[in-house]
Amino acid sequence: MPARVIAVANQKGGVAKTTTAHALAAGLVERGRTVLSIDLDPQASLTFAMGVEEEPEPSMHDVMMGRTQISEILYESNGIDLAPSSIDLAGSEVHLLTRTGREFVLQRALKPHLDSYDYVFIDCPPSLGILTINALTVAGEVLIPVQAETLSHRGVGQLLETVEEVKQFTNPDLHVSGVVVTMFDSRTNLGQEVVATLKATHDLRVFEPPIPKSVRVAEAPGRGLSVLSHASTSKPAAAYRRIAEEVDDGR
Ligand SMILES: Nc1ncnc2c1ncn2[C@@H]1O[C@H](COP(=O)(O)OP(=O)(O)O)[C@@H](O)[C@H]1O
Ligand SMILES: [Mg+2]
Repeated sequence: MPARVIAVANQKGGVAKTTTAHALAAGLVERGRTVLSIDLDPQASLTFAMGVEEEPEPSMHDVMMGRTQISEILYESNGIDLAPSSIDLAGSEVHLLTRTGREFVLQRALKPHLDSYDYVFIDCPPSLGILTINALTVAGEVLIPVQAETLSHRGVGQLLETVEEVKQFTNPDLHVSGVVVTMFDSRTNLGQEVVATLKATHDLRVFEPPIPKSVRVAEAPGRGLSVLSHASTSKPAAAYRRIAEEVDDGR
C-alpha cells in the first residue's frame, strides 16, 4: 500500500503545526510504522526540532527547484526520515510562481518514495501560498492543529476554502481528517469552547484528547527531540500517542 500523505496545515503561525507533525510522526514510529517527514516551511522549525543544527545543503529548496531528489537530502532522527528545509526555500516559492504545473512539483518529487513509507507528514508554512498548495495537492488528507484560545477558529474557514479549491483544481481526493486542539489549558474552558465552535461552524472531526499546554513540549525542540522522546511519560506525550493511534486506526 502506498504511504498515507498527511499535510499538517493552518495559515496561522504558532498553533503547534510543527510540534504536532513531529509528535505524530514519532508516535507512528513507536507503533512500528515507517515515516517520512517533509519540512516545507522556510523557517525550518521542524528541521531544527529534529536535531539538524547545520544549514542542510541540499534541502527541500533544491527539491522544489527540481534539481535534487528527496532521497538525496534525507536525515534520520529517532527513526524518522526527514527531508529538511532551509531559509532559501522562500526563494523557490518565488521561482515556482512563474512555472507551469507549479502545484504539482512536490507530488512529482514524492511519487518515487510513496511505496517506501507507511506515512508521509508534510509540515506546512504559516501561509496558504504555493508551498502549502503543493502539500495539499499531494496529500490524501489535511490535519489542522488549532490552538485552544478564543477566536482561534477564525482562520479555519479560509483554510477550508483553500481545501475546496484544491479539490476542485488539483486533488479531488483530498479530505480533512480532523482538528487537533493544542496548547490546551485545563484551568480555562477555552478548549471546550473551541471544540464546540469548530464542530458547529465547520462540522469537523476533532481528535481526542486535546494536547495539554506544558513546558515539556516547549523545551523539546531545543533538545532535537519530539515530546514523545523528551518527556515520554508526560501528559502531552500520552495525548499525542493516543491521537497517533487514532490516525493509525484509520488506515
Ligand atoms: N502543548 C504545548 N505546550 C506548550 N508549548 C507548546 C505546545 N505546543 C507547541 N508549543 C510551543 O509553541 C510554539 C509554536 O509551536 P509550533 O509547533 O512551532 O507552531 P507552528 O508550527 O504552528 O508555528 C513552539 O515554541 C512550541 O514549542
Ligand atoms: Mg511550524
